[in-house]
Amino acid sequence: MKKPNQIPASSGKLGVLLPGMGAVATTFVAGCMLARRQLATPIGSLTQLGRIRLGKRTEEREPFIRELVPLAGLDQLVFGGWDLFPDDAYTAARNAEVLTHDHLGLIKDELSAVKPMPAVFFPEFVKRLRGENVKRETSKMDLAEAVRDDVRRFKRDNDVERCVAVWCGSTEVHHEPKEVHATLASFEAGLKRSDPSISPSMVYAYALMKEGVGYANGAPNLTTEIPALQQLARERQVVISGKDFKTGQTLMKTMIAPGLKARMLGIRGWFSTNILGNRDGEVLDDPESFKTKEVSKLGVLETILQPHRYPTLYGDLYHKVRIEYYPPRGDQKEGWDNLDLVGWLGYPMQMKIDFLCRDSILAAPIVLDLVLFMDLAQRAGFSGIQEWLSFYYKSPMTAPGLYPENDLFIQLTKLKNTLRWIKGEELITHVGHEYYE
Ligand SMILES: NC(=O)c1ccc[n+]([C@@H]2O[C@H](COP(=O)([O-])OP(=O)(O)OC[C@H]3O[C@@H](n4cnc5c(N)ncnc54)[C@H](O)[C@@H]3O)[C@@H](O)[C@H]2O)c1
Repeated sequence: MKKPNQIPASSGKLGVLLPGMGAVATTFVAGCMLARRQLATPIGSLTQLGRIRLGKRTEEREPFIRELVPLAGLDQLVFGGWDLFPDDAYTAARNAEVLTHDHLGLIKDELSAVKPMPAVFFPEFVKRLRGENVKRETSKMDLAEAVRDDVRRFKRDNDVERCVAVWCGSTEVHHEPKEVHATLASFEAGLKRSDPSISPSMVYAYALMKEGVGYANGAPNLTTEIPALQQLARERQVVISGKDFKTGQTLMKTMIAPGLKARMLGIRGWFSTNILGNRDGEVLDDPESFKTKEVSKLGVLETILQPHRYPTLYGDLYHKVRIEYYPPRGDQKEGWDNLDLVGWLGYPMQMKIDFLCRDSILAAPIVLDLVLFMDLAQRAGFSGIQEWLSFYYKSPMTAPGLYPENDLFIQLTKLKNTLRWIKGEELITHVGHEYYE
């Protein structure tokens, strides 16, 4: 790890590699292209709009985060990726129907030039999709080698010196870690014999890390949670983070639950349902892919509310999450929450939340921030799991045995203190007794 203040400025180009170039990926790429031409504002991005307080409140130092730490600029980003559909990013963005034709028209040429490389795809991991733009290599190790070739070619062709990858592909079916995932040696042997427990996302993650590329996991897929790939991240000294972008309903949940708990209000029931009609919704209509998502969505309340420590308030909490595929809504998801609360002397109350959000509009700024912060972390000499990026994820990865921190505000404090620490700035504890001495 480098000493504070010694991280060099970001020079050259930063390659952004996206396995999966659907709604989220193309909304992100198009947004960066629009923002760097000042044709739209990158709202929702902490790296672009966020400030950070430094020192005492009386010092009035509150620079933009991008002024404190040497992040890559939007102009330095070059985009690439893989998809099983051959559509270029402009066509895919048109099909996703997230951004208007007016917006897309402004960057049509630049966006059309981003063409997906053939994908690593095994249909048993995403049952609702079939596509033609797939690699034909037979063994999983050969597929990993083909992805490594892609990365090297992408870097050469685009004169890129370093890359970050963010998985924006579909949610794979739920599967548990097995023997083949236990060590790097067993995993590599599994790649050679094409072990059925190695998913496409694991093949990409392996190949990318072998090429020194950090990997952020935007879906709830198992991928980098397996010991084998964590070992590879440590050995190759690359950064990993995950998993599952925290966007609509779970974002709200991790804002509201800490607030209710802070006031010691009880919760007896939390029922969450969603309707969405994009391709992600279609994939999640398959029960096995939904299972992966459900596990990711259910976990947050457990760690925020700690029912084992607060049995009176949360011991009987009934938490249910549903996602319904409903094509008329496309990417414009609607998430309903019903909370059955308990107050003073056990009196019941209710709260209803109806969030009419846009999935990819909430996810795109997360992708941007992850790209820039993962690159920063790599340049700072960090490696392995980047828990300080939990802020962006529904199921944050942690060191083995450590429970994840899901409270959005603790996650933000952790992120900002990490940035202060990187720069050798005083950490902010909010004690503030010195103002009264
Ligand atoms: N939008 C959100 O709010 C949000 C929040 C959390 C997580 N996510 C996750 O982000 C991912 C992307 O969401 P989206 O709305 O863009 O979905 P999408 O269906 O529009 O795009 C996913 C793309 O991945 C491609 N793909 C699937 N398997 C692939 C493989 N092995 N290699 C290359 N490409 C592959 C598909 O062809 C598709 O184009 C999903 O896993 C979703 O669950 C999204």
